Amino acid sequence: MCGIVGAWMTRAGMDDIADVLVEGLRTLEYRGYDSSGVGVVRSDPGAAPGAVRVARKMGRLENLEEALKGGALAGANVGVGHTRWATHGEPSDENAHPHTDGTEQIALVHNGIIENYLELRAELEAAGVVFQSETDTEVLTHLVGRRYATDGDLAGSLRAALRQVKGYYAVAVVGNRDGVTELVCARQGPPLCVAMFEDGVMLASDVLAVLPHTREVTYLSDGDLAVLSPGSVRVERIDGEAGEAVERVATLVDWDTEAANKGGYPHFMLKEIFEQSEVLGRAIHNRLLPTQGDVQFEGDGWSDPDLNGIGRVQILACGTALHAGIVARYLIEGLARIPVEVDFASEYRYCEPVVSPGTLAIAISQSGETADTLAAMRLARELGAQTLAICNVQGSTLTRDCQKTILTHAGPEIGVASTKAFTAQLIAAYLFALRLGRARRVLDEATGARMIEELRHLRPKLESLLTTEFSDSIRKIAERHVNQNGFLFLGRGVNYPIALEGALKLKEISYVHAEGYAAGEMKHGPIALIDPGLTTLVINTKGRVADKVRSGIEQVRARKGPVIVLGSDEGSWSLGDDVVKIPETSEWLSPLLHVVPLQLFAYHVADLKGCDIDKPRNLAKSVTVE
Ligand code: G6P
Repeated sequence: MCGIVGAWMTRAGMDDIADVLVEGLRTLEYRGYDSSGVGVVRSDPGAAPGAVRVARKMGRLENLEEALKGGALAGANVGVGHTRWATHGEPSDENAHPHTDGTEQIALVHNGIIENYLELRAELEAAGVVFQSETDTEVLTHLVGRRYATDGDLAGSLRAALRQVKGYYAVAVVGNRDGVTELVCARQGPPLCVAMFEDGVMLASDVLAVLPHTREVTYLSDGDLAVLSPGSVRVERIDGEAGEAVERVATLVDWDTEAANKGGYPHFMLKEIFEQSEVLGRAIHNRLLPTQGDVQFEGDGWSDPDLNGIGRVQILACGTALHAGIVARYLIEGLARIPVEVDFASEYRYCEPVVSPGTLAIAISQSGETADTLAAMRLARELGAQTLAICNVQGSTLTRDCQKTILTHAGPEIGVASTKAFTAQLIAAYLFALRLGRARRVLDEATGARMIEELRHLRPKLESLLTTEFSDSIRKIAERHVNQNGFLFLGRGVNYPIALEGALKLKEISYVHAEGYAAGEMKHGPIALIDPGLTTLVINTKGRVADKVRSGIEQVRARKGPVIVLGSDEGSWSLGDDVVKIPETSEWLSPLLHVVPLQLFAYHVADLKGCDIDKPRNLAKSVTVE
C-alpha cells in the first residue's frame, strides 16, 4: 500500500541521493508497484541551486531507474521517494509521487488517504490553484506549499496542513527555500520509521529500506511529526508546538539485509517457501519445555491464573492470516476447550460484536499494519477484551497496541503471496493452544510432552517437502492442470482452512478462479460445478474424518471431475488422478505439511502461465487503508 522513503546523506562523495532512494524503494516495492518516483533538492545541471527536481514513472521501478540513468538528478544528497499502489487516480506519470506545488520548492510523498480531499481541492481551485493530477495527495502538497512559500518553515507548514486534513497518512516532504533545506515526515495510520546513522538520516515505511544502513530504527507513533537533518532526528507531535520534542525509543531490528534478497531463487515466493523449515526452527527456538510438557514465550507472558480467566477467544485477521486464525480456532477449542470465534477484521468492526468479560482478542497479522486488523483489535480492546498480537514485525503498530505479543519469527516476507509467514502463524497458534491447554489442565504433562515431541519430529518431514525433487513433482502435476477452468480445494477439520489457503494462493498469483470449501459441504452446492474442466484438490490426512473425505472424492470421480489427492491417508491415494503423498504427523500439525504442496502448486501454475509471481496484479502486501 505505497512505500515511502526519504534520506539525507553526508557520506563523502555522495552526490546522487536518487541511488539511495531507489535502493530503498526496491525493498518497498512489495507495498505497491504501479508507479514510482523520487524528488531531490538541487538539480540537473543548469537549474537553480536548491531547486527541487522530481522524476516519476508509471510502471515498475525499472522504468524509473531507466529515467534516472546517467545521473539525471545527480548533484543532490537529500530527497524522498515513493512506490505507489493507486487509490485516487489511475496509474500514470502524472499521478505518480512525489507531487510538487509547481514552485520547485517542495516534493511530497504520501501513503494513505486524505478523506476530505474533494472539499479541500474545491477550496484550493477557488483560490486559483491548478492541479496536475487526480490524486488526493496533491491537495496536501498545495496546502504545505502555499504556507511554506510565505513563512519558509517546512515542519510548521506540514503541521498546519495536516491539521486541515482528515484521513490516514504517512507523509514525507523535502523542501528548499532561500538555500535552506528541510526534510520532514509525519504519521497518522500507515507505518513510518526514522533512523540516524554515521553518515546520514533516513525515513521509510518499512525497516527493510533502512537495513543496509543501520539496524537501529525508531518507529513513529500515530500523530508524530519528525524533523530530520544530518546528525539529528527530532520527533514532535502534529497537535503539539514547534520544537517541543517527544521521546521515542529506538528498536534494534534482528533481521539481516540478506533476508531481503532472492538468494539465487527466481522469485521471493519460492525462496520463502523453501525457508519454511528454518522458520519452524526459529519459531520454536527457546520456547519448548519438553520435560514439563509445556512451552514458554519470551517477555512478560500471562500467568496460569490469567490464562484460566480466559472464557472466550475472538480471532481477528485478514487474508492468509485469517486462515491461520481458523486453524487456531480448531487448535484452541481442541486443546484448551475454550470457545473461539474467528472474524474477518473488516466485518468485526461493523457487526456490533459482543465482548463478554474474560474475552481474549487475538489479532493475527504478518505486517502488524493492516488497517482493518488494527481497527478491529482496537474495537475489541475498547469493548473490554484483553489483546494478544500474533505478528511477524517487532515494533509494528499491532505489537505496540496489543497487551501481549507472540512474535512469529518468519523473517522479512517480500513475496506478496504470504507463505512462510503463514507457517509461522500456525506454529505460534499451536504453541499458544498448547500453553493454554496446559495452564487450564485440559492437557496433562504427558500429552504436552508428546505434542512437543511431534513438533520436534516435524522438521525433517517438512524438509522432505522442501526439495527440488518434490517441487518438480508438483510442477508436473501443475502442467497437467494448468489449463483447467477452475479449481476446488477441499479439506476437513483443521485442514479446512488449508483448503481455503490453497485456493487463495492460486487465485492471488495465477488469476484462476479457485474456491476452498469444507469437504463435507461439497455435496450441498459446489458439487454442481464438477465437470472435466474443474480440478478438485482434496486434502485427506489419516485421522477421524479420513473415510468421510474419501467418500467425497468418490463423489467427484463419479461426475468425471479430475482429482488431485494430497495427504497421508493411504486409502485415498488410489482415488486420485494425481497423488501427493505427505508424511504422517499428528492431525493438529498436519496443516503445516499440507500447505507446502499447495503453495508450490500455486507457484508452478502461475509460473507456467507467465504471471508476475512476486507482484501479482492489483494486490498489495500490506493494506494500510480500509
Ligand atoms: C493483504 C495481502 C494478503 C495478506 C493480508 C493480511 O491483503 O495481500 O496476502 O494476507 O493483507 O496481511 P497481514 O499483514 O495483516 O497479515
